[in-house]
Amino acid sequence: MISSQIRQSFLAFFAQRGHRIVPSAPVIPHGDPSLLFTNAGMNQFKDVFLGTGKREYVRAADTQKCIRVSGKHNDLEEVGRDTYHHTFFEMLGNWSFGDYYKKEAIEWAWELLTKEWGLDKRRLYATVYETDDETYELWKKVTDIGESHILKFGKKDNFWEMGETGPCGPCSEIHIDLTPDLSGKKLVNAGDARVMEIWNLVFIQNNRNEEGKLEDLPAKHVDTGMGFERMCAVLQGKNSNYDTDVFMPIIHRIEHFTNKKYAATQHQSIHSPQSEIDVAMRVIADHIRMLTFSIADGAIPGNEGRGYVLRRILRRAARFGRNLGMHKPFIYTIADAVVESMGSVFPEIVEKQGHIEKVIKAEEEGFNATLDRGLEIFESVVERIGHSKVFPGEDAFKLYDTYGFPLDLTQLMAEEKGLKVELWKFSELLGAQRDRSRIGLFVARGESDEVESGLREVAELHATDFVGYDPASLQTKSFLSAAVITESGTGSGGRYYAFLDKSPFYAESGGQVSDTGWITIRGLKKYNVVGARKIGKSIPILVDHFGDPLLGGPTEVEAQVDIPRRINIQRNHSATHLVHEALRRVLGTHVHQQGSLVAPGHLRFDFPHFGKITAEEIRAIEDIVNEKIADDISVFTEVDIPVEKARKIPNVKMFFGDKYGDTVRVVFIDENFSVEFCGGTHVKNTEDIGLFKIVSESSIASGVRRIEAVTGEGIQRYIEDQLAKAKTLDDQIAKFIEEKEMLEKELKKYSGKATGTPRPQLGSIILPSSQSESIQMLENTLASREQVVEQLTKQTLDLKKKLSKHKVKEASSGIDGLVERAVAVNGFKVVSSKVEASNMDELKSMGDTLRAKLGSGVGVLASVIDKKVALVCVVTDDLIKGKNLQAGKIVGEVARLVGGGGGGRPHLATAGGKDVAKLDETLRETTEIVRSMIQ
Ligand code: ALA
Repeated sequence: MISSQIRQSFLAFFAQRGHRIVPSAPVIPHGDPSLLFTNAGMNQFKDVFLGTGKREYVRAADTQKCIRVSGKHNDLEEVGRDTYHHTFFEMLGNWSFGDYYKKEAIEWAWELLTKEWGLDKRRLYATVYETDDETYELWKKVTDIGESHILKFGKKDNFWEMGETGPCGPCSEIHIDLTPDLSGKKLVNAGDARVMEIWNLVFIQNNRNEEGKLEDLPAKHVDTGMGFERMCAVLQGKNSNYDTDVFMPIIHRIEHFTNKKYAATQHQSIHSPQSEIDVAMRVIADHIRMLTFSIADGAIPGNEGRGYVLRRILRRAARFGRNLGMHKPFIYTIADAVVESMGSVFPEIVEKQGHIEKVIKAEEEGFNATLDRGLEIFESVVERIGHSKVFPGEDAFKLYDTYGFPLDLTQLMAEEKGLKVELWKFSELLGAQRDRSRIGLFVARGESDEVESGLREVAELHATDFVGYDPASLQTKSFLSAAVITESGTGSGGRYYAFLDKSPFYAESGGQVSDTGWITIRGLKKYNVVGARKIGKSIPILVDHFGDPLLGGPTEVEAQVDIPRRINIQRNHSATHLVHEALRRVLGTHVHQQGSLVAPGHLRFDFPHFGKITAEEIRAIEDIVNEKIADDISVFTEVDIPVEKARKIPNVKMFFGDKYGDTVRVVFIDENFSVEFCGGTHVKNTEDIGLFKIVSESSIASGVRRIEAVTGEGIQRYIEDQLAKAKTLDDQIAKFIEEKEMLEKELKKYSGKATGTPRPQLGSIILPSSQSESIQMLENTLASREQVVEQLTKQTLDLKKKLSKHKVKEASSGIDGLVERAVAVNGFKVVSSKVEASNMDELKSMGDTLRAKLGSGVGVLASVIDKKVALVCVVTDDLIKGKNLQAGKIVGEVARLVGGGGGGRPHLATAGGKDVAKLDETLRETTEIVRSMIQ
């Protein structure tokens, strides 16, 4: 059988047994930060195992593209040196999601291998987990395997785990003994190419959680994985995977380019010039598959994480290319052979071939420039250290830092010479360098333009998956891959844009403000997230940071949105959609959104409309929105609707001038009421909004109105504000009443009769328990209290007027007495006296009266009003002309003596002062002051 038939026969076998044949997932897992690469067929079903996701089928089978180079299943060192480990391989698998379990899994595996494919039973061994008697018994019962071929192993071999966390369970592996004399029993699980594992049946029943503890899963599942390349070798009777039709076309291409022959020597232990060539060819044949598939699925070589893995693999291949005498880029040309032999099964590599070749070529060119020099340095170090068995850490670091040699490449070369790299020194130097340059941190200082373009550069490399629509993800684990310091002083302070691979933080857009919250790094340091931005496909968060440097490199973080705040934002966002439609229904369809703000405390909505919105209209709008809230309507969203299709949804609202991508997200709140293009976050059900209340209405430009409104918690705050307002009014009213009653009492003295109006009766404010009734009640209360205040203001003013008339009249009789007792100076009269006046107007009118009665003279009257001295001075016309006496000057001089000042016209002027104690003495001096001013 050729390889494509083997693949096909596996899938057909399981299709006949009710399995849905599904496509391979990409090798770059999207949305699982616990994995760099897809490492098993079950990855795409992780959610089903955990019970968080569902499929429409309960049995599936496929061939999955897998990459294993790092993490739990790290086989890189072996790759190319042996004949059956790979960085990239296909895993054939069949699954049961809570459907069949151990019995069928074992039965079918045995049937396929021994009946369908006719493998010799004597060559097969089944291993079981040492405590899993059930599986042991099943092997005996449902297959005809000899009992001596069922072997028990411990956790290391027979408890399969996906990674540090995730679904897992006991497993049963099938191994094949390829020794000529069937003597391989002792070589099971011994790392020997002659006896290798070909199929793993995992009985998924646990999950390893974040704390490293095993928990039971809600259901039991089957997850199997067969090594496709190994199976091909077995079925084609080859000793090596590389000898099958999976690899030979690639090896032939390498032979063609290098002018060397592949001789299929088996293992590194046989050291010869030919084995060096064979290893090199296998390494390149393996690595080009890994590069081709990972680049096709979106990875690119780089300095971090996944990108660095690609870089290491390519550099390892390039260095082995030297063993084949290749000094120019050539690996990229081999991709074509991969495309040719696998393109029909995986069309993505056909489609991306041009891109794949370009990426590999550029990377090869970059490394070639330093590879030869680095190799020379390596050789000179080997010579220098003589008999020492230690390759110095400093030199390994220099090769890494200056010549781009990944550590594992140097280690590999060192091992070939029987040397060990001095790792602790290497790590120390690397650590020091990281502290210096903060690997993974991009430092942008200086002008904001520079910061901005730096940010954009980093953003381009770090797409963010927004997971914040899902309430469950508002508190989540994420991976911080880079940070940009926008303002960096001496290492303390600065703000960071942190790049998470998935972010629960909503970035400000469409009027909805950013989320805030926290990130915690390595469970230790908690930083405030003060906002988020959208830059292309990236959503960097802004970390307000005033402590020591954020971090030394890419790392796991806990990300946590301020959830109560987010809930309030969601209430206001959904309410905005509702009020938008309510406005159209009450005011007319000319209303459309011109501006909007959705904040935690309130919402704001601007729209074209001429004229004020009346209280009745506001009430009508509120009623519509509150009815929708009470109607308990589920809010639902549809994503990725092609924009042309979305435009045709009945009643849909979209925003002119907004640019939409090819697909849009549409939010429905009752499909007959509110349907809007919207990327924002919303409540699940209108009921969650609580209550809606418009708190202000205004004009912001000609023909543009603005309303502001509150919901949910905002309502409570609004009620509190109104309550406070009512209390202030009560205080005001109490003062007014006191003043009014005093005035009435005084007035009674003059008129002899009571003039009082009844004291207003104010009920105390008692709020009912429902918010909407409270608002109603408060509004009534405030309105009636405002009326009372207005009434009282008028009443006290009236009383004051009446009272002053009485006072002036009273004063005028007193003034006659003053004129009689005036002092004579140079033939004219000077009056200076304290009088009773309650305000400056009264005092002035007393001054007028005095002036009329003086004939020829000067008068100064003083009164203490509000604990201050008030003065008025009058001068008769004859003295203004004849003696050049001026009321303004006189009063100014008098006022000076009581610590004040003032002035005015020549015939009448007023002034003030604060020294009440000096008033009497000053008044006695007035005559002298007037005398001194006569000219
Ligand atoms: N998931 C199992 C494995 O990768 C089948 O071996």
